[in-house]
Amino acid sequence: MKKISFVWAFLALVMSVSAFGAAPKKKINVGFSQIGAESAWRIADTESIISEAKKRPNIELKFSDAQQKQENQIKVIRSFIAQKVDVIGFTPVVETGYEPVLREAKKAKIPVIIIDRTVDVKDTSLWVTHIGSDMVEEGRKVAKFMIAKGWKGNIAEMVGTVGSSAAIDRRQGFMEIVKNHPELKVVLSKSGNFTRSEGKKVMETFLKDKGKNINILYAHNDDMAIGAIQAIEEYGLRPGVDIKIISCDGIHDAFQAMIEGKLNCTVECNPLLGPQFFDAVEDLKAGKKLPKETITKESIFPMEVAKDIMPTRKY
Ligand code: AHR
Repeated sequence: MKKISFVWAFLALVMSVSAFGAAPKKKINVGFSQIGAESAWRIADTESIISEAKKRPNIELKFSDAQQKQENQIKVIRSFIAQKVDVIGFTPVVETGYEPVLREAKKAKIPVIIIDRTVDVKDTSLWVTHIGSDMVEEGRKVAKFMIAKGWKGNIAEMVGTVGSSAAIDRRQGFMEIVKNHPELKVVLSKSGNFTRSEGKKVMETFLKDKGKNINILYAHNDDMAIGAIQAIEEYGLRPGVDIKIISCDGIHDAFQAMIEGKLNCTVECNPLLGPQFFDAVEDLKAGKKLPKETITKESIFPMEVAKDIMPTRKY
C-alpha cells in the first residue's frame, strides 16, 4: 500500500513538471547600496541598475539609497548580511571606514562587488571585483586638455565629496601633471559635494575672494560646473569665455552648456554600469572567476564637438 502511494506521488510530480515546464529556478538575491541622488550622473547610474535588474527574471534586487551618508550604507549592508542575500553590491560614499562591515560580509560568505567609486582597505580579499572608471586618468585628461589648449593663469578647483575616491583621484591625476606647468596655478580649492546647488554657492565664494583674477574653473563634476556657470553669469562674467571651464561626467546638461558656449569641455565618466554589474553577479554565481578590476572606456568632449555628439548621448 505504502509503495503504491509513493508511486502515485512520484507520477504526480513528474506530471506537474511536464505540464508547467521545469521547476522555477531560485532567484539570485542581490542587495545594492547606492550613494544617493546628488547628481544627474548618479540618477543615470541608479536608473541603469534598476532597469537592468528588471530585464533579468533570475535577479531579485533590494535597492537602497544611503542619502550621501556612510552610516546609512553600513547599516543597510549589515541588513543585507542578516537577510542572507546572495551578492552585495555598493558604491562607497567615501574611501575609508568600510573594513569592519566588509569583514562581516566575508565571514557570512557573501561576495561583495564594488561599483563606480573605490574603497581603501588593506585586505583586498574583502571584495571580489570593482567595476568603474579610472578617475586618476580623468584628472590627467583635464590637465592635458588645459595644456593642449594653451590655457594659462589662476585655477579655481571645485572638489567633489571630501574623502570620496572620485574627488581624491580626480585631484591626484590633475596635480600630477599640473605641478610641472608653472603657467597653471591652483589658487582656490573647495568642495561643492558634487551637487549643483553647492557648486553655485562655492563659485560665489570663489568670485567674492578672487573675482576677475580667476581664469580657469576645474569642477570635479558637471553638476557643480553648471551651478558655477549660474554664479559666474550673476556676477557679470561670461562662463566659457572670461573663465574657461572644464568638468567631468558628460551629462546632457553639460552638452547643452557647451552648445551655448558656457562650458569648454567635459571629460566622460560612464554611469551606465547596470549591465556590467549584473553580468558580474551572474558570472559569480555560475562559479566563474572575475577580474579584480574592470575599467570602463571613456572619452573627452570639447565644446566644438558638442552639437554633433549630443544626439548620441544616453545620460
Ligand atoms: O563617483 C562618480 C561621481 O559621483 C560623478 O562624477 C558625480 O557626478 C557623482 O555624484
